[in-house]
Amino acid sequence: MSSVFLKMTGIQKSFAGVPALEGVDFELYPGEVHALLGENGAGKSTLMKCLAGIYTIEGGKIEFEDQEIEIHSVQDSIRLGISFIHQELALAEQLTVAENIFMGCEPVKKNGLLDNRKMHEMAAKLLERIDAGFSTYVKAGELGTAQKQLVEIAKALRIHSNIIVMDEPTAALSQREVESLFRLIRTLKQQKIAVIYISHRMEEIFEICDRITVLRDGKNVDTMNAVAIDQDRLIQKMVGHKLIDYYVKTEHPQGDTVLRVEHLTRKDRRVLDVSFYLKKGEILGFSGIVGAGRTELMQALFGIAPLEDGKIEIEGRQIRISSPKDAVASGIGLVPEDRKLQGLILHHSVSFNITLGILGKFIHFPFVNNELEQELAEKYIQALGIKTDTNKQHVINLSGGNQQKVVLSRWLAISPSILILDEPTRGIDVGAKAEIYALMDQLVRNGVSIIMVSSEMPEVINMCDRVYVMKAGRIVACKEQKELDQEELLRYALGVKKDE
Ligand SMILES: Nc1ncnc2c1ncn2[C@@H]1O[C@H](COP(=O)(O)OP(=O)(O)OP(=O)(O)O)[C@@H](O)[C@H]1O
Ligand SMILES: [Mg+2]
Repeated sequence: MSSVFLKMTGIQKSFAGVPALEGVDFELYPGEVHALLGENGAGKSTLMKCLAGIYTIEGGKIEFEDQEIEIHSVQDSIRLGISFIHQELALAEQLTVAENIFMGCEPVKKNGLLDNRKMHEMAAKLLERIDAGFSTYVKAGELGTAQKQLVEIAKALRIHSNIIVMDEPTAALSQREVESLFRLIRTLKQQKIAVIYISHRMEEIFEICDRITVLRDGKNVDTMNAVAIDQDRLIQKMVGHKLIDYYVKTEHPQGDTVLRVEHLTRKDRRVLDVSFYLKKGEILGFSGIVGAGRTELMQALFGIAPLEDGKIEIEGRQIRISSPKDAVASGIGLVPEDRKLQGLILHHSVSFNITLGILGKFIHFPFVNNELEQELAEKYIQALGIKTDTNKQHVINLSGGNQQKVVLSRWLAISPSILILDEPTRGIDVGAKAEIYALMDQLVRNGVSIIMVSSEMPEVINMCDRVYVMKAGRIVACKEQKELDQEELLRYALGVKKDE
């Protein structure tokens, strides 16, 4: 291996006196893909934000090509050729794709005016390099999460970075998009660009990473070659103990049909003529590639998107759902895909956010209200291992994965009779994933019915009693648990025949 590119030694960083990084070491070589792993709240994003100039380190040093350097601002970091694809995507929603890619350094004509045509041409070339099939004229706000991520990557390529940090880049991508991202990462490697790769998806780490550094509670656990370790031992290093029975794979006793949907079509036609049913106590999966219409279908069921046609029946009774309020009143809950935007009140406490949906239940007991709220919050903090110093902490200060656990807790606390989970374990660490699977199992045993949209094939295969596959807004297949096969599901999702 060539000489070290970036060296971080003894990095310290704390928040309001609570240490987040306690003497972390990290080394990076040119052209390597280095995984940074650890549970939710381990300090991964914080370490990267020190590199990005978002936080300033309180101790330790950073060397770049053997020179000690100081990073005090985002500009310092860009000057060093470091690019970030952050966990929280940060595009300007009102601007076009091209404007986002070239923000702050738009090409100009001789007369000093913006060269719009050139900007779009160059942006289109960058998009082509990463196989992004959308126009540079689209507004970022109209793109899906996966596509926004591609815009961020195009932006990093535009800056000619030496180091690209990807903080959970595939959390919102489907298998096919992940594959094209990996092809892209391999090309970057050949150009000696180093990638720091943060992910909670174990299979990916082994597929794409050369070395792995594990953090736990703001400290190094180990750095190793990916070929020198297997998944079980890696998980053990991350969580600090052995994890058994990852998936709760049991048959769920099923009752009558609780939900029946017939010929559902959205006004915007992103969902077309969809019919399906859900049984009491069932975990029903929705599989498909990003953009297949799964999230759009769930939004329609939850009253977020207007319908052109279709019928929804709950327990045999036809109902009308024209707002989330109607949906909740009919016993439907939705944990949205983009939990950041749709679920959290960031400047309120963890306990407030967890109990938000059921505060009404406490209203008759003004004195015990607070106590009950705390009790309930503590229950979920324990159950899902939410890492927070107290339940009074503002949600904005939690790590990405822990914020997601808070939204999930809120819906678990409301316990609707039909719970829709859109990508429930996205960004969630392995230990907590196992907890969520166990909770799902417990819920269906108590008669709740669950619809799970997921792009993680292993969890679809292992957790669902039945799976519908969607493609281009329609249901294209339905499979029972015993028939579930990853390759076959993928074939349906992509619409290819067996021999292709
Ligand atoms: N701005 C902040 N204020 C207070 N505490 C913070 C802040 N940012 C992070 N923390 C705390 O620092 C710790 C590390 O958080 P960090 O975001 O680095 O975790 P992470 O490893 O990226 O986790 P995840 O996998 O959930 O994204 C957490 O306990 C978090 O609550
Ligand atoms: Mg993080």
